Amino acid sequence: MKLIHRGRRLRVNNGVRELAKETIISIKNLIYPLFIVEGENVKSEIPSLQGQYHLSVDMLKDEIEEIKDLGIPAVILYGLPEYNDQLATSAYDENGIVQKAIRKIKEINESLVVITDVCLCQYTEHGHCGIIEDGQILNDLSVKLISKTALSHAKAGADIVAPSDMMDGRVKAIREILDEEDFEYTSIMPFSVKYASGFSGQFRIVEDYSPSSGDRKSYQMDPANSNEAIKEAELDYQEGADILLVSPALSYLDIIYKLKQKFNCPIAAYNVSGEYMMIKAAAEKGLIDEQTAAMEMLLSMKRAGADLIVTYFAKDMARGFN
Ligand code: PBG
Ligand code: ZN
Repeated sequence: MKLIHRGRRLRVNNGVRELAKETIISIKNLIYPLFIVEGENVKSEIPSLQGQYHLSVDMLKDEIEEIKDLGIPAVILYGLPEYNDQLATSAYDENGIVQKAIRKIKEINESLVVITDVCLCQYTEHGHCGIIEDGQILNDLSVKLISKTALSHAKAGADIVAPSDMMDGRVKAIREILDEEDFEYTSIMPFSVKYASGFSGQFRIVEDYSPSSGDRKSYQMDPANSNEAIKEAELDYQEGADILLVSPALSYLDIIYKLKQKFNCPIAAYNVSGEYMMIKAAAEKGLIDEQTAAMEMLLSMKRAGADLIVTYFAKDMARGFN
């Protein structure tokens, strides 16, 4: 059979395949999430997030050194505070858990990029991402407290703040308060397109941080919507976002692709907890090969256009999955 084109030529052996490879996942574009808790000497596995830990600030030294040694360039911090209240005051306390962790990390290693999740849900009693009055999430008051939180993270030394609340106008408010206080070079990476998803927030279900009543549908997006995603991203871009993040990633590759085509800024994908746990759980049952599946998942995000990926697999990737 005479064929001019034979696709298999470029798959003929490993050397040729590697040479023709189009997409490469580099550790340099990965961001690793860390969960910081109050107390001392705490390193306990998060039950709903196998292989990920709650760490107290005093345990950060070994963790940060390991992350640096693995070549992971950035972390995103989540805090579990001492107390929760109506106005989420522990979120913007200068001695709050995230603020303490940022200072500690920068002391251990100045060059690790510190990103912070900026939201109120861990710090309110009800677990919603904003302040509630008469059963309503108040947008503008929430934005005030969210920008206050972002500023306190910047003051503690965060390089990038990542609001994940989906309130309207928060990027503008954060940019304004940061600039007023001379943090013109602190970047904002909003969760611009955050869906009300069954795949995210897994670490909360067991932690009891999921909203005690209601759901997140009045502020997070409907998985059915795509035009609205562009609108949300457009607003964030206009309000001064430096990086646009899509969360979750796997079910929203089309959204990542569209944002990459449309906006001339880095696009980030959040490979969320549920996406991670699906692979971990299936691998544990012997139903799936963890490394192959995880790599394929991350490649799909990269192919779709993600420049940066937040992933619980970052360490595993760096280690070549052992
Ligand atoms: C806080 C926040 C959440 C995630 C990122 N920031 C929780 C949620 O909104 O449910 C999800 C991260 C993950 O599931 O891996 N608003
Ligand atoms: Zn939240």
